[in-house]
Amino acid sequence: MKTRITEMFGIEYPIIQGGMAWVAEHHLAAAVSEAGGLGLIGGANAPGEVVRDEIRKARALTNKPIGVNVMLLSPHAEDIAKVVVEEGIKVVTTGAGNPEKYMDMWKSAGIKVIPVVASVALARRMEKYGADAVVAEGTESGGHIGEQTTMTLVPQVADAVSIPVIAAGGIGDGRGIAAAFMLGAEAVQIGTRFVVAHESIVHENYKERIIKAKDIDSAVTGRTHGHPVRCLRNQMTREYTKLEQEGKTFEELEYLTLGTLRKAVQEGDVTGGTVMAGQIAGMISKRQSCKEIIQEMMGEASRLMHWD
Ligand SMILES: Cc1cc2nc3c(=O)[nH]c(=O)nc-3n(C[C@H](O)[C@H](O)[C@H](O)COP(=O)(O)O)c2cc1C
Repeated sequence: MKTRITEMFGIEYPIIQGGMAWVAEHHLAAAVSEAGGLGLIGGANAPGEVVRDEIRKARALTNKPIGVNVMLLSPHAEDIAKVVVEEGIKVVTTGAGNPEKYMDMWKSAGIKVIPVVASVALARRMEKYGADAVVAEGTESGGHIGEQTTMTLVPQVADAVSIPVIAAGGIGDGRGIAAAFMLGAEAVQIGTRFVVAHESIVHENYKERIIKAKDIDSAVTGRTHGHPVRCLRNQMTREYTKLEQEGKTFEELEYLTLGTLRKAVQEGDVTGGTVMAGQIAGMISKRQSCKEIIQEMMGEASRLMHWD
């Protein structure tokens, strides 16, 4: 299955694993890359040296390409931007901001820069700044989200730019991949389904919560202050929503969620922690290795799209 994205990244299948904060560490990224997709290390708010260590550990597990997600609002973004160059990373996805400032440095190091966008306007701007592709991420996604759905966003972005588009948000099987391709995508980025993979270091309670989730089990917190985050409903989201309705400030609400994703991922606190996951969680019902996930999804997509 060749697309401009598989060619650009040097990967076998058009599947990218989202650079998920606390989740996308070396075991998961290496397993996805080893299985023929592109694994990403999630830079999130980690210091540059932690990201360097993660890259090296992933490299010890696979010779295949791996990428890094750089969260541009991170206090360590500048350091991470340099670390990816020093470590010879060839694909960087960026979130929460404008990567323009690093573009020259990354381009001259031969890095492909792929911003995550939630609107046509941003996709156009990123193409102008020299992005090599964009991830068009719909509101179905787990984590920080925009308002457009994948169904509406992907074709509009595909029409607006000439660089390749990677679809993200709500893709959990071969039907989702086929649909994304029909909308004009040349690859997909998947988060939630990889959270439950055997190689994911996420706490069992978190994985179980995703496996048991129904279609309507996700909630969005933070809309009132323009920082919406999709996670599975629990005591934390109920408390957050109540305070949001009471008109609490962004800072007060931020305080409530400080460190709660880590608490859910590492300690398995699925009551007071933030269980980030997308709307597709309701369809995810089994635990598999990254290889099984990728093979199953690509088998389904290939049959539907007559790729084989
Ligand atoms: C637990 C979790 C954490 C995430 N953290 C990040 C992040 O730090 N940076 C980022 O660009 N995307 C992040 N995302 C979004 C994913 O990279 C991906 O685009 C999204 O999960 C795709 O939608 P899906 O969950 O429906 O597959 C996160 C998603 C999840 C589920």
